[in-house]
Amino acid sequence: MTDAATEQLLEITLRVNGVRRTASAPARRLLSDFLRHDLGLTGTHVGCEHGVCGACTVLLDGEPARACLVFAVTAQAHEVTTVEGIGHDPANLSPVQQAFAECHALQCGFCTPGFITTITAYLDENPQPTPEEAREAISGNLCRCTGYQNIVKAVVRASEIVREREEETR
Ligand code: FES
Ligand code: FES
Repeated sequence: MTDAATEQLLEITLRVNGVRRTASAPARRLLSDFLRHDLGLTGTHVGCEHGVCGACTVLLDGEPARACLVFAVTAQAHEVTTVEGIGHDPANLSPVQQAFAECHALQCGFCTPGFITTITAYLDENPQPTPEEAREAISGNLCRCTGYQNIVKAVVRASEIVREREEETR
C-alpha cells in the first residue's frame, strides 16, 4: 500500500491560460485536483469524478477534456485552458459568458464552467448552430438546475454575440 506521507512528489509544469505554472504533486494527481488545489484555479469544478457530468471540462489544445480523467503529469505536453482563461473580468465577459447572463442560463452555477469551456470550443467548430445542434453540443454536460432550455438559447445567442463583435471591429 502506498503511504501518502512518503509518496514521491514530481515537479509538474503546465502551461495554463498562457502562463507556465509549476507545483509538486504525486504522479497520480488528477488534472482537476492539480488545477484546483495545487494551482488555486478553482473555476474548474469537480462533480462526479468519473467523466460523466462534465463539470470539470477544460480545454487541452483547444479541445474539451474531462480534467477528472487526465493525470496532471500527462497534461504537460498540452496547452490547458480553464474557465479563468476564457474570461474572469465581469466587465469584459466572453461571448459565451455574456450569453449565459443574458439568457439566464445558470442558477447555482456549479455546472457553468464546464458548459462555458465546452461551448466555447464548440462555437469554433460550428459558429452558427441551430437550437437542435446546440442541444446536441451540450448533451455531455449535466445540469441539475436549469432544465437546459436557457442553456440552448445561450449557445445560439453566444454565436450571435461573436458575430456582433466581429462586425464592431470591422
Ligand atoms: S467531475 Fe469530471 S466529468 Fe464529472
Ligand atoms: S446551474 Fe446548477 S447545476 Fe447547472
